[in-house]
Amino acid sequence: FNTLDDMELDGKVVLTRVDVNVPMENGQVTDATRIEKIVPTVRKIQEKGGIPVLLAHFDRPKGQRVDSMSLRQIVPALEAALGQTVAFAPEAVGGDAKRAVAALKPGDVLLLENTRFYPGEETNEQVFAASLAALGQVYVNDAFSAAHRAHASTEGLARLLPSAAGLLMEAELNALDAALGNPERPVVAVVGGAKVSTKLDLLSNLIRKVDHLVIGGGMANTFLVAQGIEVGKSLAERDMADTARQILSDAKSAGCTIHLPVDVVVAREFAANAPHEVVAADACPADAMILDAGPATVAKIREVFAQSRTLIWNGPLGAFEIEPFDAATNAAAAAAAELTREGRLVSVAGGGDTVAALNKAGAAEDFTFISTAGGAFLEWMEGKDLPGVAALIASRR
Ligand code: 3PG
Repeated sequence: FNTLDDMELDGKVVLTRVDVNVPMENGQVTDATRIEKIVPTVRKIQEKGGIPVLLAHFDRPKGQRVDSMSLRQIVPALEAALGQTVAFAPEAVGGDAKRAVAALKPGDVLLLENTRFYPGEETNEQVFAASLAALGQVYVNDAFSAAHRAHASTEGLARLLPSAAGLLMEAELNALDAALGNPERPVVAVVGGAKVSTKLDLLSNLIRKVDHLVIGGGMANTFLVAQGIEVGKSLAERDMADTARQILSDAKSAGCTIHLPVDVVVAREFAANAPHEVVAADACPADAMILDAGPATVAKIREVFAQSRTLIWNGPLGAFEIEPFDAATNAAAAAAAELTREGRLVSVAGGGDTVAALNKAGAAEDFTFISTAGGAFLEWMEGKDLPGVAALIASRR
């Protein structure tokens, strides 16, 4: 794909797809990370003489105009991040959008209204994509986290205009390549979260690509059950036991070592600071539930990290949202952070809960790269082609 360095932007209107789908409460942005991450791309376009016109979605209005999902509400956060005023057009296409673009001067930034207010966005309709394309001369996609959607603003535009990846898109793709595409070996993946069923494709892909796979969270219980171990009242998908056994045997053939908990933290209720104890992984009392990995498991994970050169992490190891069942996640995250600081590990993490967990552990800053993506990160870990990325690659030819 092209990067911004490949593009002639002087005097051009640059349609720039960004992901500013940020969490909000009472009209206030509660986490501006995604907004802050697009600043370098906007700046670079401006430095090259281009005028950025930002295209984005917000939430899921399903082709209708929903006032509570207007992008107008993120303008103040965008202005704060960019340190300049940002113009807003109440439409993404048509007369109002054209007039707003025509009024732009060098140095300006314009944000267009939510592209998902138009049915043609999600159906990737040609006419809608063409009306977006008519607003500018160049297309830049900086929205890796929306690249798993084949929408007009994420995929269609790359077929209509000279196109390039923005700096964030480029950084995301480079980090992912360093983690799974072309990694330094050994590679260890940590996969946690509640269910095997939602991460089946991901597990099947990873066992073919990594040397070590650490399984944690509720899904580890399903793997314990698959080995005939009783897990009491723990969350487990008993109907996935056969599938879990298949994954274990496929991993063996592929030369991937799977690491399951050897000890666990159990409690009688799912509540913060519920009385708890550490038991062997095969000794969960019938009336208790597993809420975290135990200290022996963490020690083992630390050892695996120390032997590895690359780490890719998705999903917490325990019920990290309630204390003290965040302990294993925090300790493993701290170990990864330390090895990364020492230059011994390349560490990449992504997916909504994961980033929250690593932030909570205070480890996120030391990771080599934290993806801004949720669903797109998962699909990429599943080995799927992301339409937004594929379109950028095709547009270079
Ligand atoms: C995200 O929040 O993961 C992206 O903005 C994509 O949003 P979507 O799942 O609504 O397509």
